[in-house]
Amino acid sequence: MKLADRLQGIAPSATLEITAYANEMRASGIDVIGLAAGEPDFESPSQSKHDAIQAIEEGFTRYTATSGIAPLKTAIAEKLIHDNHLEYANDEIIVSCGAKHSLFNLMQVLVNPGDEVLIPSPYWLTYPDQVRLHGGVPVFIPTDEQTGFKTTAAQLTQFLTPRTKALVINSPSNPTGAVYDQATLEAIAELAVRHNLVVISDEIYEHFVYDGRAHCSIASLGEEIKARTMVINGVSKAFAMTGWRIGYAAGPKPLISAMGMIQSQSTSNPSSIAQKAAIGALREGRDFYAPLVKEFTERRGIMHTQLTTIPGISCLKPDGAFYGFANVSALIGARFSDQSMTSSSQIATYLLHEAHVAIVPGDPFGAPTHIRISYATSREKIKTGLDRIRLAVQKLQTVTS
Ligand SMILES: Cc1ncc(COP(=O)(O)O)c(C=O)c1O
Repeated sequence: MKLADRLQGIAPSATLEITAYANEMRASGIDVIGLAAGEPDFESPSQSKHDAIQAIEEGFTRYTATSGIAPLKTAIAEKLIHDNHLEYANDEIIVSCGAKHSLFNLMQVLVNPGDEVLIPSPYWLTYPDQVRLHGGVPVFIPTDEQTGFKTTAAQLTQFLTPRTKALVINSPSNPTGAVYDQATLEAIAELAVRHNLVVISDEIYEHFVYDGRAHCSIASLGEEIKARTMVINGVSKAFAMTGWRIGYAAGPKPLISAMGMIQSQSTSNPSSIAQKAAIGALREGRDFYAPLVKEFTERRGIMHTQLTTIPGISCLKPDGAFYGFANVSALIGARFSDQSMTSSSQIATYLLHEAHVAIVPGDPFGAPTHIRISYATSREKIKTGLDRIRLAVQKLQTVTS
């Protein structure tokens, strides 16, 4: 059977794949430490669970308005005012089956074949594939440790062409942990307005910022930039609700209505039960996620201290999100027995088999010299996982030296 041409160049999500493979190893009795997952290891808010059970018991189990129920949109609008100084009417908000789905809907209504979308690299691996699925061209903007994995307006200017349609800003970033400051965003906003670009601002990690940093939404930097920015967010990360599948987008009404139309012809509404649960989470707000952020701050310290004492590995201290993005270029080319570490994927496979630690290679994030280590797991697992990585890396060095 011949599959559609649009599948060419598209890969399944590597993060989900590696987690599934680690789970298989666990099921066969191997003690694998997971430092790959992109989700907090906490329980969802008890209010959400309660509201979901109540929704079931009260029979709130039918189709809802396609783009989400009004009380949830109101809770989102209140959150956007409170946290981001952004005012949106309910018809400028759409609730989807996760932020990933909101992004997909946006690509559907935005990207024509040949349109170019600027994506700072390393990037969350879903952006380029979603652009490609719509015939668009992802244009990667290289960043590295020297620039703190951040782009600037000056750098972006060099990549503009008459086909440039949109720009993705993901702050705090998965995988790099980079957090954009207001001045940099102001210059980027000015560029976006001047060149008529749509800004896709993925703010799903907004609350996970450390050392007194504050998250700034580019949409909050003036009416002109707000009118061309789609804010993407959801309850997955801040409220440990990855499985409930509730994300949302807020932005210009014509785009939101078009996204609603796509949603009406694809998934219809997100789960009625999960929508009720999300209201409970948003109302709990800070009270829920503040302790998570405190715990992640501790874990980040443990991860970073241990990781940066492993010879051959270096890592910037991430300013946000919950990942260490470690540079392993010094290990590329090393050998273990008859295996050569030709890429970060090889290193990830080696660590899984030799150290029984699951991490994510940097290749699918556009960074073949890096690995992503999640600290969304217990302090003990982080410590043991990194001890195991150290031993495995030492074996590599023994063989190469
Ligand atoms: C940067 C980024 N955006 C969006 C998402 C998707 O979140 P959701 O679970 O709401 O689809 C993720 C999940 O890993 C992410 O890392």
